[in-house]
Amino acid sequence: MNYDAIIFDLDGTITESAPGIMKSAAYALEKMNKPVPGEDVLRKFVGPPLHKSFMDFCSLSDDEAAEAVGKYRERHTVVGWKEANVYTGILPMLLSLKKNGAYIALASSKPQPLCVKTLEYFGILPLFDKVVGPDYQNKSGEKEFLIRNALPEKYQNACMVGDRKFDIEGAKKAGVTAVGVGYGYGSREELTLSGCDAYCETVEDLSSLLLENAPRAKGLFITFEGSDGCGKSTQLNLLKDYLISSGARLTVTREPGGCEISERIRSLVLDVKAMGMTDACEALLFAAARSQHVNDVIKPALEKGNIVLCDRYVDSSIAYQGGGRGLGDWVRVINEKAVDGCMPDLTLLFDLNAEEALRRRTSATGADRIESAESGFMTDVYNAFMALATEEPNRIKIIDANGKIEQIESRVRQMVTEKILTLSIAPEKTEG
Ligand code: TYD
Repeated sequence: MNYDAIIFDLDGTITESAPGIMKSAAYALEKMNKPVPGEDVLRKFVGPPLHKSFMDFCSLSDDEAAEAVGKYRERHTVVGWKEANVYTGILPMLLSLKKNGAYIALASSKPQPLCVKTLEYFGILPLFDKVVGPDYQNKSGEKEFLIRNALPEKYQNACMVGDRKFDIEGAKKAGVTAVGVGYGYGSREELTLSGCDAYCETVEDLSSLLLENAPRAKGLFITFEGSDGCGKSTQLNLLKDYLISSGARLTVTREPGGCEISERIRSLVLDVKAMGMTDACEALLFAAARSQHVNDVIKPALEKGNIVLCDRYVDSSIAYQGGGRGLGDWVRVINEKAVDGCMPDLTLLFDLNAEEALRRRTSATGADRIESAESGFMTDVYNAFMALATEEPNRIKIIDANGKIEQIESRVRQMVTEKILTLSIAPEKTEG
């Protein structure tokens, strides 16, 4: 790698945080009965120290600017800090840097506790060796000193990555390479005029610069399983939104289906008009659809380093066809070729009590062919899922699906974040 120590700015480099910052600056000015400038001016608040921005862009006096910063924080510390997202591609880049042993730190003009809270909210705090920012009292938070403070004791080549001239100037004064990024809030002109040593237009360009020739972290395969009506699809969508806001590159798919050929098999296998279908035919069709899906969608996405979220996978076959239809271990045999070595890193098994699951199924309209099976079938499916979880406790995690949606959502988030960090950071297994 080109650099063994990388210091990042936060706003405009890791997080797209303009909406919360701009709304909070406008709120402060309104509260002080000062004119609120247009969006073009409010946008300039992203990056530089707030106190200076209120003086420079809104002509406030030193004392007024101090009051404005207080009002700004009233709003920003409650809601504004969450009105943000991590730029797409930042998560896999950080994971790859970590995997290659880089030292990663943050040097931001934002108060340090807020930087920590933000990184924690998006699940990426554990990837940072150090988080440096001014305390709430420090008006200026000179970038040079923040950068010096963020550097490790020993390093060979360090760089500072930022989107504004303050980052570039600070890097130069601190004696490290200055990398400007064009996807944030500064222009290419601003960054080159302030003398950046390298310029990256996109997150992908930045990844290529920082990770040149270094191996990238692998993708992560997460499946969602459970009996019909367990609420897994709702949770999958919530996790999808969260991971997107955390800067992941995602592939979201489902079984049976997920690609053209497999979607055609899906219509057949779930068709209520296909009532004469034998159990073996059903099991083979699910396996056939899976084989194509693994080849066309899952493997290519994992190779690109994406996180793959899949609604149902091979465990559904083991539970529904193996358990529910009573086909037993033969289902595992036919699926060996279908999954072709591609097993999930994490399977979330949603466990809903039997009465509630039955209530949801009977109140839902338009049951498919599988859901129309007699009631004992679902008990067998449930028992088979639970047996699988006992068999593979490291991969399959049971999620209690009986609580409120938000409670279940936070359990899912916690489990997935932990898995992303541990699996992606773990050194590659070597033969022998
Ligand atoms: P779907 O409408 O996707 O239901 P759900 O939202 O519950 O996932 O239909 C998929 C149905 O197919 C569901 O009843 C489970 C069943 N199924 C199997 O029986 N075996 C399998 O291998 C898979 C993937 C699904």
